Amino acid sequence: MEFSIKSGSPEKLRTGALVVGVFESRKMTAAAAAVDAASKGRVSEIIDSGDMDGKAGSSLLLHKLPGVNAERVLLVGLGKEKEFGIREYRDALGASIRALRDTGATDAVSTLADTAPRKQGSAWGLRQAAIVTLDVLYRYDTHARNKKDDSRALTRLAFSAPKKGSTGAAETALAQGAAIGHGMALTKTLGNLPPNVCTPTYLSEQALDLGRKTGIAVTVLERADMQKLGMGSLLSVSNGSRQPPKFIVLEYRAGKKADAPVVLVGKGVTFDSGGISLKPGEGMDEMKYDMCGAASVLGTMQALAAMKLPINVVGLIPTVENMPGGAATRPGDVVKSMSGQTIEILNTDAEGRLILCDALTYAERFEPACVVDIATLTGACIIALGHVTSGLMANDDALADALFAAGQTSHDRAWRLPVWEDYQEQLKSNFADMGNIGGRPAGSITAACFLARFTKKYAWAHLDIAGTAWKSGKDKGATGRPVPLLAHFLLDRAGKL
Ligand code: BES
Ligand code: MN
Ligand code: ZN
Repeated sequence: MEFSIKSGSPEKLRTGALVVGVFESRKMTAAAAAVDAASKGRVSEIIDSGDMDGKAGSSLLLHKLPGVNAERVLLVGLGKEKEFGIREYRDALGASIRALRDTGATDAVSTLADTAPRKQGSAWGLRQAAIVTLDVLYRYDTHARNKKDDSRALTRLAFSAPKKGSTGAAETALAQGAAIGHGMALTKTLGNLPPNVCTPTYLSEQALDLGRKTGIAVTVLERADMQKLGMGSLLSVSNGSRQPPKFIVLEYRAGKKADAPVVLVGKGVTFDSGGISLKPGEGMDEMKYDMCGAASVLGTMQALAAMKLPINVVGLIPTVENMPGGAATRPGDVVKSMSGQTIEILNTDAEGRLILCDALTYAERFEPACVVDIATLTGACIIALGHVTSGLMANDDALADALFAAGQTSHDRAWRLPVWEDYQEQLKSNFADMGNIGGRPAGSITAACFLARFTKKYAWAHLDIAGTAWKSGKDKGATGRPVPLLAHFLLDRAGKL
């Protein structure tokens, strides 16, 4: 998709399709009113006829309106003006893109960005416009036998220039949104790929490829390297698999040399069978998504490079397959982590924390400003927050606040849960420094408490994306979350928000 900013009166624009908004109760946006005036009241007539009532999610395509240069005009319902907020704005954008996708127009001009809630500002509106557009147009067809014909697809989309502010600022915001949208697409595709393709080795190849394309420095540690480092916890998870484990290190350094980096750590379990503590069969295919944390680190780093943010960011991806082979770790096994702490593995299905803890210890060598891990860590998080909100846990209030705010701004939201000492009791073991499970109560929190034992040396936050990284059911697929949250967090740190 080629995005641009276009100024000029809506009715004069030469384009395949012009998108204008109409509220319930007949109120038109300025652009709709301009089209109405140029066409001598055609839009009003249509509203009066009842064919477009302005209801949220509705749209109506008109051809060759007199006095209007665009070949088509797409009316988009915006709902009640008083209720028009972030969510309604994003929904209207989404509805407009879905409607455009079904027309023959290959280029379009949308005036919907003018309706962005004033509190958020026009840069926000344009950034969101690009993100939502790419989100809606994303298609996974890597293994489809009948790929869709793209020759008549929408390829150029312009948004009207904001009334206030420079075109340069508008273009920057649009480019940021495009970078984030493309980052999400990478995250989605890696998540959607089948687990026989997307293995730890495949992820490491994709990371190296990203490095070649962006200049990000990428190194891949092999099993022997991890053995030398003492990553006994991480390695224990891969024992039952034929797939070799990998530890991917990505370094993006565009900030000052002296600036401590942000370190992002992504859980990369390319398939989680549960291991010897085997999961039930139903829906087990969805455990291919257990590498979405890793995929979100790759997607975010791709966006970061595209936006050329002047900061330092390190990505760490411990990646393994959790399988019940003959050499698999057993419940009762005790392993030694890189930190020196020992772990009694009581359930081999609580494997995410076992690979993350060694990555979190490895993160110390970067003397980080902060560390954020991203993981499809607990089913309990879905019970607590559903599929709407990611879990956010931290040992540092300022970091938690910054991530929360980034979630609000990007509408990729997270909600904080406590990691108080009181919960640590649940991880006690008679045979090692800790067990790897904390029982049923507060399962997401005890998982974070486990990680907290490895993050004492820096400011740390944990995002549990078990409920938000993918959708089940008929629209089954990865969502690209929390790339928007992470990208906005980094944009803010870089002073570019
Ligand atoms: N990858 C799963 C968490 C998960 C489950 C994510 C369902 C999304 C949907 C994780 O490795 C896991 O199996 N966690 C266990 C932990 C338990 C054994 C303490 C869980 O949540 O049941
Ligand atoms: Mn598991
Ligand atoms: Zn898992």
